[in-house]
Amino acid sequence: MSLKDTLLELKQTVLNKISVVEDLDSLNQIRIETLGKKGPITEVLRGMKDLTAQERPQVGAFANEIRDVLQTAVEERKRVIEDKVLTAKLSAETIDVTLPGNQIAKGNAHVIQQIIEQLEDQFMGMGYQIAEGPEVEEDRYNFEMMNLPKDHPARDMQDTFYITDEILMRTQTSPMQARMMEKHDFSKGALKMISPGRVYRRDTDDATHSHQFHQVEGLVIDKNITMADLKGTLLKMAQELFGEKHQIRLRPSYFPFTEPSVEVDVSWDEVTDKTQPEDIKWIEVLGAGMVHPNVLAMAGVDPEIYGGFAFGLGPDRFAMLKYGVDDIRNFYLNDVRFLAQFD
Ligand code: PHE
Repeated sequence: MSLKDTLLELKQTVLNKISVVEDLDSLNQIRIETLGKKGPITEVLRGMKDLTAQERPQVGAFANEIRDVLQTAVEERKRVIEDKVLTAKLSAETIDVTLPGNQIAKGNAHVIQQIIEQLEDQFMGMGYQIAEGPEVEEDRYNFEMMNLPKDHPARDMQDTFYITDEILMRTQTSPMQARMMEKHDFSKGALKMISPGRVYRRDTDDATHSHQFHQVEGLVIDKNITMADLKGTLLKMAQELFGEKHQIRLRPSYFPFTEPSVEVDVSWDEVTDKTQPEDIKWIEVLGAGMVHPNVLAMAGVDPEIYGGFAFGLGPDRFAMLKYGVDDIRNFYLNDVRFLAQFD
């Protein structure tokens, strides 16, 4: 058989094999066997040295031609097989939409955060702005501008984490009163704000004390603000939070930054026309009062013209009352079983 015939026969056999091969590995095998270094075509090309000078270019060109044809055939077949594989894979992976899905555990806002957000919504609805302040605070704002000079005995009411002599972890959100009054342009109208956030005190943790808890400060400064405005505001807030039939009670108290000062209780149960006053169980929920003239003056507000009220409430305490939680530490343990109840 002439070399040419051998090559033609080879071409036909290989093309036949290629046309029926069904997987990439076997195709690759054919490619290596036929077109590889040890394959018949390379062999033919290698054997050219034995040919005459006349035959050589013809056979060479013919062998190259056949190699190209086979190479193209391999590539085309490769595309066909890849297509088939992909189609098979796609149909095997069809999504069964009737299968039950995996449940993704959904979180919820922390119960304290929920109360804070409820208060924020409520006060924003009454035209208050929300202001957040630094937890690492200056002694000046936390105490001095709150009418508590360095040697003031009432500082003992709030055992403090000091960082330096002048820097501390704020013990209350009241410093935001001074910060906001200082900034406010009273020619543009009243200052009405609430300021929620964390506060810190050197308390030994127990069921009712935590060294870190929350407060929401409230402040309204304008001309002609009276204690009736304070009482009306607090009653509204308590009723939104605990229910319309709850009542509040103001008791005289003392805070250095308010005069007069009150402590505010909310009724544990609903109060109706038939409730006897002595049957009402009162729970203390916040401190409040009319802003002390010294506090106004120190923040650059003229106490002869302006005045107002302030209050400070504890969302932790609110949450304990509202949901009957008897240990404040539950809020800070991050036990999901506890927290998930307040979804
Ligand atoms: N800052 C006070 C406290 O932590 C609460 C308070 C705020 C009282 C505003 C009166 C007015 O005890």
